[in-house]
Amino acid sequence: MTQERRPIIAANWKMHKTHLEAIQAVQKLSYLLEKEDAERAEVVVCPPFTALRAVQTLIDADKLPYGLGAQNVHPEDHGAFTGEISAPMLAALKVRYVIVGHSERRQLFGEDDLFVNKKARAVFANGMTPIVCVGETLDEREAGGTESKVAQQIRRAFDNVAPEHAAKAVIAYEPIWAIGTGRNAEPADAGQVVALIRATLAERYDAALAQGVRVQYGGSVKPGNIRDFMAHPEIDGALVGGASLDAEEFALIVKYR
Ligand code: PGA
Repeated sequence: MTQERRPIIAANWKMHKTHLEAIQAVQKLSYLLEKEDAERAEVVVCPPFTALRAVQTLIDADKLPYGLGAQNVHPEDHGAFTGEISAPMLAALKVRYVIVGHSERRQLFGEDDLFVNKKARAVFANGMTPIVCVGETLDEREAGGTESKVAQQIRRAFDNVAPEHAAKAVIAYEPIWAIGTGRNAEPADAGQVVALIRATLAERYDAALAQGVRVQYGGSVKPGNIRDFMAHPEIDGALVGGASLDAEEFALIVKYR
């Protein structure tokens, strides 16, 4: 972590928690976290769509210092897309971050790099920040293809993204084999891939922009391993799935020392 990049630790609740459970979890988090914890690292919660309004109301009413994130978005502003949610709808709920390109969306819902790029652009166009997820499968890693896969995902995700937008992006490096498996990447390995992500951004934009972009690690982050990830100079935070469902565990991750 350099001085200029504020750490960002985000809870990705995936398809867990009703709006009532979400309220409880955020309330509990607010008792567990000190003001300084949320100053040192930016804390973001990404509940399911059905809980966004409830969590937003709680954050507003109690003036909680947490960012609200959504887990997905459709690239079009409106139209005949039954079941989808658009970026203007999220922006109206004061959503600040939107996860795009999560490997579960790519693998289970067939989302490709072009679709991820459209989503990222829609998020930027509506004044929000995408958390762009990239990462390799175990087969790709074992075949030595990690770098080419991740670099390509980054190049495609940022296609036609203006520098003033790209500078604000958050990227999550999430090796797919580490997600929900209990098997986290080695911080040094993850740091190397994050450095490659910055090199790819530097090629596409410039070195200063790349140095300013925050890159998280994601994949089996827990209270017991967060410190090692945060200690790596390239890694600026974490995108946390399973361990974020429990407020106590997530609070320990946010405190990370
Ligand atoms: P995990 O999920 O922490 O449960 O591995 C991370 C993610 O999918 O963002």
